[in-house]
Amino acid sequence: MHIAVIGSGGREAALALRLRAEGNTTAQFAAPTGDLASFCGELQALCIELAVIGPEAPLAAGLADALRSVGVATVGPGQGAAQLEASKSWAKGFMARHGVATAPWRAMAVHQAELEAPTCPLPVVVKRDGLCGGKGVSVCRTPAELVAALQQAHDRDGPHALVVLEHLLVGRELSLHALVSDGQCVLLPAAMDHKRLFDQDLGPNTGGMGAVAPLPWCTPQLLADIESEVIAPTLRGLQAENIGYRGVLYFGLMLTRHGPRLLEYNVRFGDPECQVLLPLIATNLANLLMAVARGELRDQPIAVQPGFAAAVVLAAPGYPHAPQLGTIIDIPSIQDLSLAGMQATAAGWQTCAGRVATAVGQGPSLDLALKQAYCRAEPLAAQGLLLRRDIGAKAKPARVAVLASGRGSNLAALIAASSHGILQGLAQIELALFDRGAPGQSVARAAGIATHQLDSTGISPEQWAQCALPLLHQYGIEVVVLAGFARILASTLIAAYPARILNIHPADPVHYVGLHGYRWAFAQQLPATTITVHLVDAGLDSGPILAQEGVDLRGAQSLAQVEARGLQVEHRLYPQTLRNFLLEH
Ligand code: GRF
Repeated sequence: MHIAVIGSGGREAALALRLRAEGNTTAQFAAPTGDLASFCGELQALCIELAVIGPEAPLAAGLADALRSVGVATVGPGQGAAQLEASKSWAKGFMARHGVATAPWRAMAVHQAELEAPTCPLPVVVKRDGLCGGKGVSVCRTPAELVAALQQAHDRDGPHALVVLEHLLVGRELSLHALVSDGQCVLLPAAMDHKRLFDQDLGPNTGGMGAVAPLPWCTPQLLADIESEVIAPTLRGLQAENIGYRGVLYFGLMLTRHGPRLLEYNVRFGDPECQVLLPLIATNLANLLMAVARGELRDQPIAVQPGFAAAVVLAAPGYPHAPQLGTIIDIPSIQDLSLAGMQATAAGWQTCAGRVATAVGQGPSLDLALKQAYCRAEPLAAQGLLLRRDIGAKAKPARVAVLASGRGSNLAALIAASSHGILQGLAQIELALFDRGAPGQSVARAAGIATHQLDSTGISPEQWAQCALPLLHQYGIEVVVLAGFARILASTLIAAYPARILNIHPADPVHYVGLHGYRWAFAQQLPATTITVHLVDAGLDSGPILAQEGVDLRGAQSLAQVEARGLQVEHRLYPQTLRNFLLEH
């Protein structure tokens, strides 16, 4: 097949590489900036059978319509549908018209937003309306940040341009790509981008510093929720508004404690998500894209490769504000990289854009895929190119230790939730630590969890902590969960896990602290009690409260009944709260 890939970034380089490897004649073109008709004529003269448009700007300019009008089968939506990305206010209006789950928002002119700024509830997200190369979104937590974001919109777009002011959603971001062809839709594996320049999501926004796919925590249940709350209403909306769509539709999502919410649409592959999705598509890509372009997707089954893919982006020093161009880079093995901002010169490969190359790895586990990607990126990083060291960290389950002293029913609930319930892919219980011989140990052992007993009799909390800490480090523990742990934690242990130790307490700490909360409630003949999940600080059952839920005790005849009712709530509330905590931290 004669294929034209339009665009000159890493995404397009990866598409062209793959299409060539499948035996197609593939030419890559820079996106036209002016005369679309002569560009279309050029492709016609080359007998191009399929055009794949990579970036958003030519789509927003109507390139797909122009190509279709001269009979070139094209992957990419027309100008009307491209508004889903090219106008944030139009996209939010579309979501509202069709009941797509998204954050509350308002659109207004910049000068109006400036007038309202002093009374605007914070935090708020400011989105400039048009295409901004991924740099038009500001999260404003202070009045000064809001003023600065609006000033920037004012300076760049003028006082009458639109901005969207949106409620800030908290959770985990993921992106889902769909191949869409006139109402037919095929989903690709869930991916995660890394927008910020530095590790731990710090530093300025970039075009994307790395990606992984699929995501272990994107379970079939979550996919079903996204399908019904976001994807299906979007496809119905396109149909209802008579908007044809043949191309890639990208759903930028936030998984919040209340479920998935759509942050934005993109009307093309993400870059670098494309670089991790392509290796996972086992089906012939040219045939698949041709089916998208012709409205024949229904007849084209897609096979997904098992395992994971990871991409690490290498950027020029100074990226994104002032990338240093013109540096000669020695590339040991070109086939392991998808080159974007590089040109071949007599002196060798020379950097010519901010994002220079993407190193991609693939493997049966996320760790192995990442290892391979980093291994391929390393020789370039050694020559001064920038990269993030924590790509994929948030995609992996958090490594959790459970500390317990007793029967371990909460431990069992947490194990069940992490192996096949709401903590699946989000938390992995790596270690169960007991301070004495307790029946709970057999619960942990039966689940194949590393179990240790550190006897606490006759030693101080500090001495106990000195024994526990090496174990927690050995197992790479990130979050500690106390489940019926009957000892105070030493301050050294608390300091080692700041705001990362959770406890469940069967009372409201305002009314009761210490052991035997149910015994207290029963003795008082209380009609109800409260279960509290909180972060642990140096006090007894104190620390910031994460969740509370009441338990109806009316009619309870015995301590056993009180406890049974309480535990039923605990076993639901604890995994749920840990999930919310992991999503939001
Ligand atoms: C629970 O009631 C919990 O609230 C309290 O200790 C008890 C532990 O029970 N902190 P189990 O060992 O999880 O069954």
